[in-house]
Amino acid sequence: MSRILVTSALPYVNGIPHLGHMVGCLLPSDVYARYQRMLGNEVLYICGTDEHGTPSEVGAAKENMPVEEYCTKYHNRHKEVYQKFNLSFDYFGRTSTPQNEEMVNHIFTQLEKNGFIEEKNIKQVFSIDDDRFLPDRYITGTCPHCGYDKARGDQCENCTKVLEPTELINPRSTISGSTNLEVRETKHLFLKLPLLESELAEWVKTKEPYWPDVAYSIAQKWLKEGLQERCITRDLKWGFAVPRAGFEDKVFYVWFDAPIGYIGISKQWSDEKPNERDWKSWWLDAKDVYYVQFMGKDNVPFHSISFPATLLGTRENWTKVDYLKGMSYLTFEGGKFSKSEHRGIFAEDAIEEFPADYWRYWLMSNAPEASDSSFSFDGFAGVVNKDLNGVLGNFVSRVLKMTASKIGTEVPAGGEFQTEEKELILQLQEKTNNYLKYMKDMEFRKALNELRAIWVDGNNYISSTEPWTVIKENPERAATILRVCINLIRIFAILSAPIMPETAEKMLSKLGYSIKEVTLSDFNIAKEIEAVPAGQKFEVGDALFERVAPEKIDELKVRYGSGK
Ligand code: MF3
Ligand code: ZN
Repeated sequence: MSRILVTSALPYVNGIPHLGHMVGCLLPSDVYARYQRMLGNEVLYICGTDEHGTPSEVGAAKENMPVEEYCTKYHNRHKEVYQKFNLSFDYFGRTSTPQNEEMVNHIFTQLEKNGFIEEKNIKQVFSIDDDRFLPDRYITGTCPHCGYDKARGDQCENCTKVLEPTELINPRSTISGSTNLEVRETKHLFLKLPLLESELAEWVKTKEPYWPDVAYSIAQKWLKEGLQERCITRDLKWGFAVPRAGFEDKVFYVWFDAPIGYIGISKQWSDEKPNERDWKSWWLDAKDVYYVQFMGKDNVPFHSISFPATLLGTRENWTKVDYLKGMSYLTFEGGKFSKSEHRGIFAEDAIEEFPADYWRYWLMSNAPEASDSSFSFDGFAGVVNKDLNGVLGNFVSRVLKMTASKIGTEVPAGGEFQTEEKELILQLQEKTNNYLKYMKDMEFRKALNELRAIWVDGNNYISSTEPWTVIKENPERAATILRVCINLIRIFAILSAPIMPETAEKMLSKLGYSIKEVTLSDFNIAKEIEAVPAGQKFEVGDALFERVAPEKIDELKVRYGSGK
């Protein structure tokens, strides 16, 4: 048994999760955690809300709420919707907790002690009316390059040029609109990444055979350009206090405390259930832990460079990422998801429209791995109707109904396997091996292709053996075929369980089993196809899926703004 640590990038608490967030790290990490558990491995799967920073302060002010209360409100919203999507976190925590603060202070103290922290004065824009320093992206003005009048202080969205806030023409505060701004000098703490560069490069190099190309090349690009000192403090109120004299009105930068949150959240959990898991055994001097991180590709530099460097600088042996899965983006009908423009389907609405497994299956089959992918209601309905309803759902109801009406609601005995069964076993074993390998390698689209092909094999088997015809001449042969088909239902359920846990449970319960008692370890088709014994009772029960009607698709397009 191995120990697998799985983390999903921590979603910003103020962001309302849409399908792009779901497939960008949350869902793939869940599928992987479930798969590893089903192999019999010990898994610690951690996520939580990323709560500090200006966006939370601004969001709270807009809703006229203390920022702590605002974060609690939105933390709960995230938590609820992830539960509805059946994300199986061992703990879904928060970065703003005392446990994380303790962790951040510890790591900072180590870095300071080892000479990796430096104090420097920098110039920043101060808004007199807002009575605060403004982060670059909270300054709006006219782009000096293209004349766009809503350019942000860090970048112009229109011409994509990177900007300094002082370059903007007619700069104003994004928060209040005030133009009463001035540049002030303020002192900050910097992490001396250049001192850690060669050590970090050596560590990254060891990952070359393991990390996916996207992640490895992003890390190499950063190393090649040379690491800069990174400012780890901000002039804000909402965040962790900086334990150093003269920094009373500053806090740690959100990107300093957020990744440490993976550790802090693991600890948070063990404080609530102190006897159940020792967080240290996962994070410190943990030789037997394999650590997999999931994230959107924009997060790769933080996870492959800044965070590992931070951990290296402590001179303590923290668990660092072994495999880093960076996902591309999901677009909505070819464009961006936008809450303010009412475009795109958000997780809370999605789950009211269709059961979690419909989304889980569509999203994982279309996961933006090698490149971006696009959601469309037509595509979604096509997949639900064809793969889920047509192939999987239809097979299950056809087999159970036929057996019940022609033979009875007990699994029939039948006789010996013939060539058809022997061939089927070989085919399925090959596809199952591929499926399990792709899941292990986190190549989700390929894994789902194999899974679908496995269901199709079941359909082809029953179509070509025609038990409904055979039964007239040779009832024993028909019984063999139907017994095999019932066993296929169990096999399909087990293989589908990491992706569609509710559906898998429904399928298994029809046959008198439950997910908790099945495993993917040593999954051998020749053995599994005999697992459901003759005489075992089954239930036909309800259909697994419902078709999505064309009228429903039209209605959804109007409601969620695809405009077509
Ligand atoms: N909140 C960030 C985002 O959504 C991700 C933070 S990941 C962490 O892009 F490691 F820093 F927590
Ligand atoms: Zn511009």
